[in-house]
Parts: sequence; C-alpha cells; structure tokens
Amino acid sequence: MKSIITVTPAQLLIITLFSLTGMSCGSQDAVSVKKESSLTASQQLGKDLFFDARLSSPAGQSCASCHSPKHGFSQPNQKLATAEGAVKGLFGNRNVPSIAYIGFTPKFHKETEDGESLYVGGFFLDGRESTLEDQATKPMLNPVEMGIANEQALVNKIKESGYEKSFDSIYGDGSFNNTDKAIQIISRAIADYQRSNELSPFNSKYDAYLTGKVQLSKQELNGLKLFEAEDKGNCAACHPSKLDKATGFPPLFTDYTYDNIGISSNKNNPFLNNPAKYNAQGKGYKDKGLGEALKDSNEDGKFKVPTLRNIALTAPYMHNGVLGTLKEVVDFYNTRDTDSKWGNAEIRKNVNKDELGDLKLSDNDVDDIVAFLKTLSDAYQIKNTK
Ligand code: HEC
Ligand code: HEC
Repeated sequence: MKSIITVTPAQLLIITLFSLTGMSCGSQDAVSVKKESSLTASQQLGKDLFFDARLSSPAGQSCASCHSPKHGFSQPNQKLATAEGAVKGLFGNRNVPSIAYIGFTPKFHKETEDGESLYVGGFFLDGRESTLEDQATKPMLNPVEMGIANEQALVNKIKESGYEKSFDSIYGDGSFNNTDKAIQIISRAIADYQRSNELSPFNSKYDAYLTGKVQLSKQELNGLKLFEAEDKGNCAACHPSKLDKATGFPPLFTDYTYDNIGISSNKNNPFLNNPAKYNAQGKGYKDKGLGEALKDSNEDGKFKVPTLRNIALTAPYMHNGVLGTLKEVVDFYNTRDTDSKWGNAEIRKNVNKDELGDLKLSDNDVDDIVAFLKTLSDAYQIKNTK
C-alpha cells in the first residue's frame, strides 16, 4: 500500500465532468452518460477496432470478447478461470481483469518509501508494459489471445477490413502504408478509446452516494465502515475508497502498487492443463507476477492491486481466478492464516502478513463488506423515492 496519488490533467477533466454533470439527473444517469460520451475521431477508431471480431486469427474474437462492457469490461464467461483465445482450447495463464477505469493507471515507475523500493502503475497484472499505448496491440499478437501472426499481418488485416478511409481522414492519405506508423496509430487509437468516459462513467450507486444523491442501506454503510477501518477489513489501505478532499476526484479503489496476498495455485486453471507448447512448465507452473516481469525475486508473487469498481460483475477473482465469489474473497482475507482450506500460497516469498489474513470479522461483517462491494457496479439507476 501507499498513500499518495497524484492527479493528471486527464483526471482533472473527469473531476470536472463528475462535479458538473455527474449524478444530476436521477434515473437518466446511465443514459445521459452514454449520450454525453462524444468520442474523438481517434477514440471512435479505437472503439471500432476494440469491437471488431474480424481481426483475430481465426476470426471471431475481439477485445470486447474478453473485455465485455456488460461485465465491467471483463470476461463474460464467469466459469472460466483464465481466458480462451481465438484458437479454441488454447488458454492464457491469467484471469481476465476488468479494464474499466484503466485510463487512470499511471505509467510503470519506481518510488522509494521508508528506504524501500515500491513499484507503482503499469499495465498487465505484472506491470510489464509501461503505458496503455505499449499494451494496446499485444493481445492482438498474442498466440493465446487474438493470434495474429505479426505486426505486418495485423496492418494487412486492418486494411482488408476497410479502415483505410478512417485512417486517411484522421491522419492523412497514405498514413497506413508505413507499418511502424500504422502500428503507432492503431495503438494510440485503442489507448485513446480506453481513456474515454465510456470506460469510466463514474455512475455506480457509491458514486451517487458520494455526491449526495442517494443513501446507502444500513448494511452497505456498515460494510463501507468495515472496508475502511484499519482494525477491521483494512481494505482501503490498498483499495482507496474516499473522494480526494483537495480535488474532489472520485476513488478508483486501487493505489496501483503490487502485493503478494498469498493466493494459492488454482488446480482448475485450464492453463495448467494446457498443451506444453504454451505452458512449458506444465502443471507445476507458478506465476511470479512482478518478479518475473522485473527478473527480480524480491518481487516474486506480487500482482498489481486491481480496481474494485464493477467487482460484482467480474467473477472469478484474483490473477488465476481461484476464488469464485465475493463472499469467498472476503472470507479469504479474513481467515487466510487461520483456516487451512485456503492452501499454501502459490509463491511463498513476500506474502503480506501485516495487513490481512486474520481479520477476526464475524459472518455478518463479511456479508456487509460484500453488500458494500455490490454498490460499485456502474449504470446504477436512481429510483424515484417519492
Ligand atoms: C483472450 C482474451 C483476451 C482478449 C481477446 C483481450 N484481452 Fe486484454 N487481457 C486479457 C487478460 C487475461 C489480461 C491479463 C493478462 C496479464 O496480466 O498478463 C488482459 C489485460 C489487459 C489490459 C491490462 C489491464 C491492467 O490492469 O493492466 C488491457 C488494457 C487490455 N487487456 C486491453 C485489451 C485490448 C485493447 C484488447 C484488444 C486489442 C484485449 N485486451 C484483448 C484477456 C484478453
Ligand atoms: C495489502 C494490500 C491489499 C489489501 C489490504 C486488500 N487487498 Fe484486495 N487485492 C490486493 C491485490 C494485490 C490483489 C490481486 C491479487 C492477485 O491477483 O493475486 C487484490 C485483489 C482483490 C480482489 C479481486 C479483484 C479481481 O478483479 O480479481 C477483491 C475483490 C479484493 N481484493 C477485495 C479486497 C477486500 C474486500 C479487502 C479487505 C477485506 C482487500 N481487498 C484488502 C491487495 C490488497
């Protein structure tokens, strides 16, 4: 955990949107946010690419197949621990994260806190890509995701799919003839779309509560209290939940740091049972997360703290999808160190023993935290309570 988050100009823009237009029109909220989201030309191009299932090889899979808007921009098939690619039967090693609000993630960087290195930001669960632009075309070229052979093949496919006109009109005639430039434009467009307010509507029940438009139920309020209390759930230590007092910026429920919270390996992870071509380590595969990305064993087992916005829509949970429900997740934080059912940590090094593992929450407390987490789903409709 860390305590300070700096606000970028893009975030300031959203703050303004949040305070000027957010939550001001009752049951029209979800609709009005959609209408207001006028995309720039580059964002619209990025959106077209994001939803285009013709691009994968074989055809049939788009970014949205794994990052579905109805599921908090995460995977619709909640039974799958990790994602299946365009080629059936080939699975990746990780659970699909929600990419809603991804545009606020800072670049990968190192900070120093109390003399110790602290890594912050970056993309993928292990931070291996520094910016959203760096990340953008990787899923298209990943053999266990969209499976396109190489950058030239990607550019050719996009040409065949009739995008040239949009490219020419935005970037000038012939902008697509140079592969490097075309890849840059594609990456920029996809990143721009992911920064648009379509992915960051800030219209959950909790947002409406923060701006005084609705009350939380007694149970939800108690859940929030437990979520924030350092001597109870202590969740907000890593998943901050408060409006920024200075700027009014709504919370993103992540401080973008990395931690090993002691998740066990997942025997039902299809990747573990996958053909050796993509999982050379076989069933013994252990995901070292940040440690692998940095080739530094001091960081083994650490994963980026995920946002909890839309968390009720994005089961299963954790980097390997080992936990199926929110109740299980909170139960895990509560009793990791007192109940052997959770098994050993997948990577024993660096497990956080200070902030979680034996929270002494009652069963009701656990239910209340879950009730609070359910207030974080977007497109909340405020009911007329006359
Ligand atoms: C086959 C399913 C699948 C497809 C298709 C897919 N993704 Fe992902 N996405 C994942 C998984 C799994 C991860 C986590 C991977 C990791 O950490 O190594 C991920 C991670 C991400 C992240 C990083 C999230 C974070 O918290 O840092 C972004 C951004 C993203 N995807 C965007 C896209 C875009 C854009 C496309 C289309 C070009 C796409 N994805 C296509 C499964 C998919
Ligand atoms: C020390 C930092 C820390 C604290 C404290 C913490 N978390 Fe987390 N949380 C993480 C990290 C890191 C992950 C990702 C771990 C992984 O995938 O292996 C995570 C994952 C989650 C997930 C799954 C997200 C997803 O998309 O799969 C949920 C839900 C969650 N935390 C809720 C909570 C709740 C509720 C509490 C309090 C009871 C809490 N967390 C306390 C760091 C923390």
